[in-house]
Amino acid sequence: MKAVVFRRFGPPEVLRLEEIAAPVPGDSDVLIRVRATTVTAAECQMRRGRPLWGRVIIGVRRPRRRYRVLGIEVAGEVVSVGAKVRRFGVGDEVFGFTGFGVGACAEYKVMPETGSLARKPTTLSYEQAAAAVDGATTALFFLRDKARVQSGQRVLINGASGSIGTYAVQLAKHLGAEVIGVCGPRNVELVRSLGADRVIDYTEADFTTSGERYDVIFDTVGKSSFARCRRSLTRTGRYVSTVGLWNNVLALWTAVRGGPTVVTGMSVDKRDSLAYLADLFEANKLTIVVDRRYPLAEIVEAHRHVETGHKRGNVVVTVP
Ligand SMILES: NC(=O)c1ccc[n+]([C@@H]2O[C@H](COP(=O)([O-])OP(=O)(O)OC[C@H]3O[C@@H](n4cnc5c(N)ncnc54)[C@H](OP(=O)(O)O)[C@@H]3O)[C@@H](O)[C@H]2O)c1
Repeated sequence: MKAVVFRRFGPPEVLRLEEIAAPVPGDSDVLIRVRATTVTAAECQMRRGRPLWGRVIIGVRRPRRRYRVLGIEVAGEVVSVGAKVRRFGVGDEVFGFTGFGVGACAEYKVMPETGSLARKPTTLSYEQAAAAVDGATTALFFLRDKARVQSGQRVLINGASGSIGTYAVQLAKHLGAEVIGVCGPRNVELVRSLGADRVIDYTEADFTTSGERYDVIFDTVGKSSFARCRRSLTRTGRYVSTVGLWNNVLALWTAVRGGPTVVTGMSVDKRDSLAYLADLFEANKLTIVVDRRYPLAEIVEAHRHVETGHKRGNVVVTVP
């Protein structure tokens, strides 16, 4: 099968479209013919071997064999199932999250039937479905499960125009919050159209010095710090971040100390969130923002674009 492989850490040019052996499903696995995947900011970091501590998992000097094909979001069709598989059958259209299993940047991908996999909402194309996984489930995990956002709370989303951010704006509204989105000038209208009650252009105003207070500050892109945001939180406010080892230390310290707390974590098991989100997608209650589409053969260009740090929503890769 065709797959995008990287054998050393580095810039987008280390990615190569190669012919490799197709994976073989075990008794409890499904084999998916991949129709679409995405390029995420997290994968660009993996490709570069950054942050350095991540190499403990991915490989110290070069990527380990099992991480050489990237792709964490998948949408496609089940083409064969193992003898013990009950949840899925041949012909099912599915979407899911491969996580540290990566490997979706290829024509075929094997996943355990108990993995983060669900039937694709009928309202979505494969391209949309691939872009409906990581950003949406991560936003849901942090807002609903970690920050426990309640109706009527004031929630600020920093990085509101990215993959996690575009879903975070919509899901915070869905949970009943008043939503303030922070993004650059190019994306103000987009973030407003997703339902934000107010949008702050970070080139014109610094939300940390305005004197306003929020119940939750969700930094989806790791461009702020708790130290800077603390005074913008209510007494019981929560600073939520998707990134940063240091935030794990602060989470422990602030939990003991009282006052505003730091909340962090990693969203890994996405099976329940996918089911929750599939209902919202079926009901057309969530908008999927697709910035650009690239065929598999143009993966280097796709990575170059994502690496700018300024993509809008999601970048989709189609697998013909
Ligand atoms: N903990 C977890 O479970 C988990 C899961 C998934 C991802 N992550 C991490 O989450 C991070 C974000 O992922 P993502 O895919 O959502 O990122 P992304 O889509 O690549 O974010 C791009 C967006 O960031 C905005 N941005 C850039 N600089 C900004 C600034 N100074 N202030 C506010 N917004 C700014 C850009 O808007 P403008 O162009 O307008 O500047 C752009 O729309 C990554 O580091 C990833 O590794 C963590």
